[in-house]
Amino acid sequence: MRIANEAYRSKVMSADEAAALIPNGAKIGFAGFTGSGYPKEVPVALANRIKAEREKGQDFKISAFTGASTAPELDGELAATDGMEFRTPYQSDPILRNKINEGVTYYTDIHLSHLHNQMAYGFFGGLDVAVIEASAITEEGVVPSSSVGMNRTYLEMADKIIIEVNSWQSEGLYGMHDIYYDIAVMPPNRRALPINKPSDRIGDKVYKIDPAKVIAIVETSDPDRNSPFKPLDEDSKKIAGYLLDFFESEIKAGRLEENLAPLQSGVGNIANAVLAGLLDSKYENMTSYTEVIQDGMVDLLDSGKLTVASATAFSLSPEYAAKMNDNASEYAKKIILRPQDVSNSPEAIRRMGVIACNGMIEADIYGNVNSTHVMGSRMMNGIGGSGDFTRNSRFSCFVSPSTAKGGAISAIVPMVNHVDHTEHDVSVIITEQGLADLRGLAPRQRAKKVIENCAHPDYRPLLEEYVERAAKKANGMHTPHDLSTALSWHVKFLEDGSMK
Ligand code: COA
Repeated sequence: MRIANEAYRSKVMSADEAAALIPNGAKIGFAGFTGSGYPKEVPVALANRIKAEREKGQDFKISAFTGASTAPELDGELAATDGMEFRTPYQSDPILRNKINEGVTYYTDIHLSHLHNQMAYGFFGGLDVAVIEASAITEEGVVPSSSVGMNRTYLEMADKIIIEVNSWQSEGLYGMHDIYYDIAVMPPNRRALPINKPSDRIGDKVYKIDPAKVIAIVETSDPDRNSPFKPLDEDSKKIAGYLLDFFESEIKAGRLEENLAPLQSGVGNIANAVLAGLLDSKYENMTSYTEVIQDGMVDLLDSGKLTVASATAFSLSPEYAAKMNDNASEYAKKIILRPQDVSNSPEAIRRMGVIACNGMIEADIYGNVNSTHVMGSRMMNGIGGSGDFTRNSRFSCFVSPSTAKGGAISAIVPMVNHVDHTEHDVSVIITEQGLADLRGLAPRQRAKKVIENCAHPDYRPLLEEYVERAAKKANGMHTPHDLSTALSWHVKFLEDGSMK
């Protein structure tokens, strides 16, 4: 019995009936983070309702707030109706991405740790409905499922609440979550976050909600939908190898402990490869203070090399999600899932000296990084938590193959087409060509290192040529740029399909 309380049982209804309670124009706070813990049936029912209203000639639009990316049943279905007029703070769905880039959906790309404050200050107006997923409702409260994300905020802020209780989610998840409420107290009254190490538990195991706000409960049994990781390729293995060598040199220099520092590892295949590299490494007693738990991190926990992983969500392949479900109560001893303003807290990240490692779209020769935009205008996914970790880390690493699209694009360019992480925040850039440690270097010294160590050989001479030309034409020698050609590589790709 997943719904222990009779008062809640009386509110059980179908997804269609629940979706019918959501009004046109609603601002909806959906659960969901990297394909985990998102509501699976109400969004589809709502999309069907939007389509039906359209067929009757009625306009129907909603604004969607989430933790981060979700899955096709939520972002894909709702975006495909053209009824999603606003979306924040992060997405990675191909249909929604197109709607954003076609101008159908307004999208605000926000540091994940900032969203609670921005909502509480009222930048988006109020929140009409929260639609969240739970693994159970007990007398103690609402037991979260495979992500926490923004749920605490949405459950507090929304006028009405719809809960999907998903029996696919393991009941063993109880005890894994750590829902901390005091961080919601707004400045100037907010107190220091009492987390000094990743294993510190500071909150509740369940969400405490106002039962009077609950208008519907929907019972589901659908799995989280995540893609399997790609098999490790040679380039990813090389990148992981450079990073591990770098850790070793940091330990020798006395700047890093023998068990490393709490690790943050971004989304994607290279991040997973880095975790696989750590599995074969000599490091023991590692800890992780990160945003998502991927397959590689589960392997590290299984091996005993990683003692604890703190995050806000899972991002597991179907195989690993099944393993998590079978053993959730055991993993709950080593995994802590927190609200995203705690998992990504700049204050905690800075204090604990977390090592940040994230993917990028491109970096420029001076160390600015673009994580979000393709050729100036097209949104890819969003900044997610990469900024929360990068700026506040002990040192920040960005990883990428040196080229994209079969070599037609260089990931190292004269000037990035959009800046997400500035030269002031980026410590290390790594491609399959090598690693550039930018700490302590001035811009012109950085340019030399990035070109020599990270650029693909096909693009190295072109970058060197750019640097020489910039030095002649620039109006100053601190960060020399030839403004007339700084973005010409991107323009050339748009015109000819290649930067070469
Ligand atoms: N120009 C154009 N396209 C590029 C590119 C570039 N310089 N570099 C990569 N791409 C394309 C790839 O071709 C690929 O396209 P495809 O999906 O059509 O094949 C896509 O971007 C993903 O690239 P990939 O090399 O597979 O990297 P990834 O899966 O590691 O993703 C980011 C890289 C930057 C998109 C991803 O890391 C991201 O969204 N980061 C921002 C959020 C973040 O860092 N979150 C973690 C915080 S905890």
